[in-house]
Amino acid sequence: MIIIGGPASNGLEESIGRELHAKSVRAEHKLFPDGESHVKIPCPLKGEDAVLVQSTYAPQDKHLMELFLMADTARSMGAASITAVVPYLAYLRQDRKFNEGEAVSSETVLKLLNALDVSKLVVVQPHKTAPFSAFRGEAVFVDPIPMQADAIMESIDDPVVLAPDKGGIGRAEELASIFECEYSHIEKLRNVDTGSVNMVAPLQGSFDSKTVLIIDDIISTGNTMALGTKEVLAKGATKVVAVATHLIMVDDAYDKLVKAGVSEIYGTNTVPYSGAKMLDIGAEIAAVL
Ligand code: R5P
Repeated sequence: MIIIGGPASNGLEESIGRELHAKSVRAEHKLFPDGESHVKIPCPLKGEDAVLVQSTYAPQDKHLMELFLMADTARSMGAASITAVVPYLAYLRQDRKFNEGEAVSSETVLKLLNALDVSKLVVVQPHKTAPFSAFRGEAVFVDPIPMQADAIMESIDDPVVLAPDKGGIGRAEELASIFECEYSHIEKLRNVDTGSVNMVAPLQGSFDSKTVLIIDDIISTGNTMALGTKEVLAKGATKVVAVATHLIMVDDAYDKLVKAGVSEIYGTNTVPYSGAKMLDIGAEIAAVL
């Protein structure tokens, strides 16, 4: 097995390689003057199981294209199998047609990986798993929650867990079961045009004098996390810890969280970010390879 880190691996090929005692290399990468990507895999792959590590944070299209170039190159170099480790897989949130004529981007991305003979796809906590039925190979999902719980356990007293929407209730339940505490969720509605989010039902549960762990897969604009934070602080919470996996953190997301009253933010290195406590997901990825 050879682990090959792409331009957006965020260094994860090294921690995965270390865990597995496998060879890891970094693909060579440059941009042509017009902005097109040039990628080169710097070692022979004939007969090897090639593991390509490439996240797809912004610029998503560029990082996806680099992943496609790497996969096609690995195939043409005679790799015995191609596994794509995509710690953050972009385009998953549009997983259905909301209006006639809309592209279902999750499906398109997965079909392209099929076409490039990727036989195994490893993704850290995808937004939803249903879209992966469009992927013909083996899709494996890495669960960061036990690691996240371990990292925050020591500094947390009297917690309660909150999912900032109904879709995230499974994550809240899992984290709460580790902390042996209560959990609840917000009923939110997003305005798809402005990105703003609002409560559509009163928040259930007791937050008075509690440390609230708000767990989400993604923080993008920060609107969802900020809404949850304001709600629980208004209900008497003493501290809010934001626990997320993919810190996309668009524009002033960080300021929104701080202004809302978040005390600590935890993320993982599926996406590079410097404003939070970042946990290394390398060992968890290595475990499923
Ligand atoms: C939505 O269903 C996701 O789980 C996240 O809650 C969402 O992507 C967060 O987005 P934002 O930070 O823009 O509110």
